[in-house]
Amino acid sequence: MKKLGIIGAMWLEVETLLQRMEGTRSRKWAGSDFYEGTLEGLPVVVVQCGVGKVNAAICAQILCDCYQVTHLVNTGIAGSLSPKLDIGDLVVSRDAMYHDFDCRKFGYPFGKVPGMDLTAFPADEDLMAAAFAAAEQVHPGHTHLGRVASGDQFVADADLKEKIIANTQGLCTEMEGAAIAQTAYRNGLPFVILRAISDKADDSAEMDYPTFERIAAHRCAQVTCTLARRLKAGIESCCQ
Ligand code: ADE
Repeated sequence: MKKLGIIGAMWLEVETLLQRMEGTRSRKWAGSDFYEGTLEGLPVVVVQCGVGKVNAAICAQILCDCYQVTHLVNTGIAGSLSPKLDIGDLVVSRDAMYHDFDCRKFGYPFGKVPGMDLTAFPADEDLMAAAFAAAEQVHPGHTHLGRVASGDQFVADADLKEKIIANTQGLCTEMEGAAIAQTAYRNGLPFVILRAISDKADDSAEMDYPTFERIAAHRCAQVTCTLARRLKAGIESCCQ
């Protein structure tokens, strides 16, 4: 039986999910409220982890240890790293890596965490396909599959954006995805990151972000609900 752990950094990114959940009960761990119940009939645990990689990893590990989730999903907004992506478009992770992890002085490739055998953590193929189909259902023709580049930085500078593109070849940037991906990898759990574009991560980002964050966050939550519905339907058809 699938049990999804769903992580959003900000209230905006989880509030729609919580409104749509049923049979919800909550408990606090490490300062965050974890909401357990069903979403579209699928068992889920939703948490607002707070911004940044450490908050994300703490909550992802709690979902593994205290709730025995079978899959991790990260939902939220992101800055675009590609001219192909418009504000409001959706990104489904093929993989995720850090854009602010650099041990090249010791011979490691950019982004690689010493001790990890991968630089970019691959998303689960089935979850990725289901998330892509869900995103296309919500916003047809506006879903992109690619790399998510994460770091503890709100990117709002054209030079920094270019550096991140050169170092990671990412499609979008945000502040939690790769930490959740690394946690999933270390626990042997499938994951996917779903992001809606709120800004272009350049000098226009500060202007665009407040205008579009709500629209983008809501769209991403809609995709997450659709994903839950599709996974539930898959479970039902397997069991019949
Ligand atoms: N989340 C949304 N937009 C972002 C940006 N430009 N940088 C980092 N995280 C983001």
